[in-house]
Amino acid sequence: MAQSVLRADNVRKIFYVYTDPAGTTVVSSKKQFSLNLWRRRSIYELLALDDISLEVYPNELVALLGPSGCGKSTLLRIFAGLERPTSGRVAFKDQEIKDPDPQRAMVFQSERAVFPWLTVEKNIELGPKLQGVPRAEREERVRRIIELIQLNGFNTAYPATLSGGMLQRVAVGRALINRPEVLLMDEPFGALDAITRNALQDHLIRIWQETRQTIVFVTHDIEEATYLATRIVIMHPRPGRIKGVVPVTLSHPRSRTDSAFVEARRKVADLLGD
Ligand SMILES: Nc1ncnc2c1ncn2[C@@H]1O[C@H](COP(=O)(O)OP(=O)(O)OP(=O)(O)O)[C@@H](O)[C@H]1O
Ligand SMILES: [Mg+2]
Repeated sequence: MAQSVLRADNVRKIFYVYTDPAGTTVVSSKKQFSLNLWRRRSIYELLALDDISLEVYPNELVALLGPSGCGKSTLLRIFAGLERPTSGRVAFKDQEIKDPDPQRAMVFQSERAVFPWLTVEKNIELGPKLQGVPRAEREERVRRIIELIQLNGFNTAYPATLSGGMLQRVAVGRALINRPEVLLMDEPFGALDAITRNALQDHLIRIWQETRQTIVFVTHDIEEATYLATRIVIMHPRPGRIKGVVPVTLSHPRSRTDSAFVEARRKVADLLGD
């Protein structure tokens, strides 16, 4: 078996939530409160993830699927290095994950991922520019990325003049230009209308097939998970646990009306609903 790209072993994540004397709800990853607060029980522990063990292999497209609050974003942020587990271990190619790394790129929702004062190409170029990649190479990489996300002709457009779907592709382009090994995507198409979302799902599959990147994709949409993923990790809330893992062996691109697809989707829905 190939070496895993991402790996979680018995990961637990506890958030500490309390109301401070001014009545503000405060949340923290660390236990940093006075004993008085514990005694007055104005603090509680929220077990966001409990005993999560998972391995992700090269070129997989893994969907994390589950209802709101089951810990999908928390697990993704832990893989990104933006959050530490309370206990357990997470590794990227056998190296413990301690910090964010350009090798593990997070794709945020578009409005947070692009700078409105930069053009499409300047937005995409930013990462390599900050890393000191020479201009000629940067320009070549930007050209290829714009080709890949099919935004030819929009190089010098400003974000305010783009549609939601185009913005989301810029966000994906910004992550891809750093040539990450892993793309971590947290409901990247969640805010889009169904037609645009379907088109972007096809874009993503094409990009994934061209780049052979490993992708972990968070969604609460059964159809989206079944359409995209090679493996679906089904989670359930309070506390966030893995309920089951369903491989989807259908080849890409998939057809939503194909009987094998409908069958796969039903299987996932059944497992999610139990
Ligand atoms: N920074 C935080 N502080 C305190 N609690 C948090 C924090 N982040 C998440 N939680 C809690 O942890 C649990 C899991 O949250 P998370 O955001 O990972 O869920 P999710 O599966 O991504 O949900 P959604 O589908 O709504 O995005 C929730 O109960 C949430 O309230
Ligand atoms: Mg979330």
